[in-house]
Amino acid sequence: MPKKELVLETFSKISNVYDYMNDFMTFGMHRDWKNLLVKETFKFYKGSDVLDIGSGTGDLVFLIKKKFPDVKVVALDINDNMIEKLRYRLERKKIKDVEIVKSFAEDMPFENESFGAVVSSYTVRNLEDVEKSFKEIYRITKKPGVFGFLELSEPKVFKNLFWLYLDKILPFFGGKIGCREEYEYLGQSLRAFLSPEKIALLLKSVGFKKVYIAHVCAGVSTIYIAVKQ
Ligand SMILES: C[S@@+](CC[C@H](N)C(=O)[O-])C[C@H]1O[C@@H](n2cnc3c(N)ncnc32)[C@H](O)[C@@H]1O
Repeated sequence: MPKKELVLETFSKISNVYDYMNDFMTFGMHRDWKNLLVKETFKFYKGSDVLDIGSGTGDLVFLIKKKFPDVKVVALDINDNMIEKLRYRLERKKIKDVEIVKSFAEDMPFENESFGAVVSSYTVRNLEDVEKSFKEIYRITKKPGVFGFLELSEPKVFKNLFWLYLDKILPFFGGKIGCREEYEYLGQSLRAFLSPEKIALLLKSVGFKKVYIAHVCAGVSTIYIAVKQ
């Protein structure tokens, strides 16, 4: 099955359990990592609109609106079910000035240099064409501007335990809620993904002048900050 379809099916199926499973899988730590991503990215932010790519249910959108209530945030995702969850959460929290755009990251409907900051969490690994998406992100980021994202990565220590957790334990619990295959996809997608070093090279190759990498929680996730100047 083409990756785009697989990713669409996967997130359509898990949208109802997505937020609970994130807390369960990471023991709630994904919240701290997302906070850190926003804190580090916005050190390089010089103003203007902000884009969240693969916004899902909107965790980054809420963090950014909390930090900058007056800034316009655009939430981009391709999955109707995830977008529906985001709409519900926005209404419940009475948050305004968030535009939702349904689009693939590989081909986005924005003018050149539209955003002062582009952020993303746990989405890049799911993209069908990472290089094309990075080129798009570079194109729509202002000069100066910043692209910061968070992604799963292989830790430096306890690798066997990590892979046991991704390959067996999580799919076991996923199976209990009828989503075994969807949680098997997590490990599969990470195996097929580029190393942090290769990601950094790719970001530089599309034009970002400076790229910073920070591993969190012994490297089970990595924060990437790419600066356009
Ligand atoms: C793992 S979720 C991350 C959601 C949210 N950012 C978070 O951290 O909780 C990945 C999201 O990216 C979206 N996505 C996957 N591939 C995409 C693409 N090519 N273009 C836009 N969105 C995509 C999925 O629909 C899903 O909502």
